[in-house]
Amino acid sequence: MTTTNASPAANQMWGGRFAEGPDAIMQAINASIGFDQRLYAQDIAGSRAHAAMLAAQGIITPNDAEAIREGLLTVLSEIETGNFPFKVELEDIHMNVEARLKEIIGAPAGRLHTARSRNDQVAVDFRLWVRDQCDAAIAGLTALMRAFLAQAEAGADWVMPGFTHLQTAQPVTWGHHMMAYVEMFARDRSRFMDARARMNECPLGAAALAGTSFPIDRMATARALGFDRPTANSLDSVSDRDFALEFLAASSICAMHLSRFAEELVIWSSAQFRFVRLSDRWTTGSSIMPQKKNPDAAELLRAKIGRILGATVALFTVMKGLPLTYSKDMQEDKEQVFDAADTLMLGLAAMTGMVADMAANRESLAAAAASGFSTATDLADWLVRELGLPFREAHHVTGTLVAMAESQGCDLPDLTLAQMQSVHSGIRADVFEVLGIENSVRSRRSYGGTAPDQVRAQIARWKEHLG
Ligand code: ARG
Repeated sequence: MTTTNASPAANQMWGGRFAEGPDAIMQAINASIGFDQRLYAQDIAGSRAHAAMLAAQGIITPNDAEAIREGLLTVLSEIETGNFPFKVELEDIHMNVEARLKEIIGAPAGRLHTARSRNDQVAVDFRLWVRDQCDAAIAGLTALMRAFLAQAEAGADWVMPGFTHLQTAQPVTWGHHMMAYVEMFARDRSRFMDARARMNECPLGAAALAGTSFPIDRMATARALGFDRPTANSLDSVSDRDFALEFLAASSICAMHLSRFAEELVIWSSAQFRFVRLSDRWTTGSSIMPQKKNPDAAELLRAKIGRILGATVALFTVMKGLPLTYSKDMQEDKEQVFDAADTLMLGLAAMTGMVADMAANRESLAAAAASGFSTATDLADWLVRELGLPFREAHHVTGTLVAMAESQGCDLPDLTLAQMQSVHSGIRADVFEVLGIENSVRSRRSYGGTAPDQVRAQIARWKEHLG
């Protein structure tokens, strides 16, 4: 029977060569248990897969593997019921779990770390966690797309102004505007799918950095943890966090999209626009101005990108210039990703609720669409099509008519035929047909255009795709 004689103050997991324990401030800067305890389920899943594999390979005995398996289940339930004694002197989730396992099952716990290091352990735990977040983002985006699809379907042919420079440009349909976001969030969704597929390789078994001399079966652990295959290079396995960066990049782009619709909601719900009414469930009142209904959720969603993009920059900065392989710098990878993921999931849920609840004001949308000379392009196109004018000349004639209407304080369809003919003698009465906003949107039937039948075709395509 051998005993270890490390100082009682030294770390029980790695203190063999240490005579003194760490300074209290060293402990504070070194410990990650305050945040990485979020990885407990992944850590225990990884350990279970590892122990089962060690037994199957004859590296540990079936009895020890069984004791480890049962002990880990006890640890899991202790954590889940809030009865686990997390200890800062045990640094991180990996050592906290293992030390507690030792208290519960005794000696066999010491065999769990055979052919493994905290370096591949944290790599597999974090990958599993980020992979779950990709799944959550994909589900959240699917729900959000459905909410936009429902809005698009209800108002596929409602006319509203389309803007460039936030100036009235051409009439478009409400359905078309909603479907623009379906496209954006669909791309976001596919980014999370791509990232998930790429990260789905198992680093467990890379050990500290070089692999191991034990006859481990990396295919088995990869399979047990739902990975497609093991990673192919042990140095890379323990030292990259590009999977987390991809998650953050996809999250940042998605948050940027969320912020754009959030901004539209802030503008549209104002008394000056009145395009939409937000439900009471997603707005707040003012303590001094009784008439106010503030779009706080939309404003917060407009701002949340700051945290997510900030996390992305922070992790890039941590990883930049790190020599291979693992460096403790990489412990700084987690908090930012946790916060970004929480922020994104909350944002997706809030936006889904707001979109589902919002009520478009069809009359205000139509009135706004009819103002601001929104059918000037239709007039120019008519001059090209019907009178054979070159587009540049048609543009000029139309501009002259816009100036005339503006000086008379009316819109284009309010000009008389005689007034129009004073600018170009060829103009006929049927020009008025293209000056109406309904006709304008109906005419834009090019693929991906705003015509209601085009919009309905896109809605049908997406509904079938989402099932
Ligand atoms: N808490 C550490 C981290 O999050 C675990 C890996 C520690 N590895 C080591 N060699 N000190 O990165």
